[in-house]
Amino acid sequence: MAQRTFSIVKPDAVRNGHTGAILAEIEKAGFKIVSIKKQSISQDQAKGFYAVHKERPFFEGLTKFMSSGPIVLMVLEKDNAIADLRKLMGATNPANAEEGTIRKKFATDIEQNAIHGSDAEETAAFEIGYWFAGYELV
Ligand code: CMP
Repeated sequence: MAQRTFSIVKPDAVRNGHTGAILAEIEKAGFKIVSIKKQSISQDQAKGFYAVHKERPFFEGLTKFMSSGPIVLMVLEKDNAIADLRKLMGATNPANAEEGTIRKKFATDIEQNAIHGSDAEETAAFEIGYWFAGYELV
């Protein structure tokens, strides 16, 4: 059944000119783009988005990085979207990512890892609602 997930092209990949290549990989893999926008976010917005990680040692650095330049936020749809996007992205740490994955191709390190994808249905619902209003979903 068609499922929605949420994804971000992170500031490293946008800065390095990889937005188009990453979107091409996503569409080639069969995802429909339900909504997409490019914007710069504040560190406070990033902190709200990553609130589940607030006790982690990397929280400050991660939220600073995510607000360091424009990002591309997307809602994607396909059968099994959540698991399929995570497979296409590869491991969080690009050093462990499989050949052919987006992170293997475009990520710099475990923090600056090119792309975000929701990890479960509940987080996808929270993340879509955090960044998109209902009228933006087409
Ligand atoms: P993401 O899928 O966006 O979800 C949480 C993010 O935290 C993750 O991608 C990485 O960018 C970042 N992250 C996870 N683990 C670490 C770590 N050990 N050090 C720095 N950043 C991390």
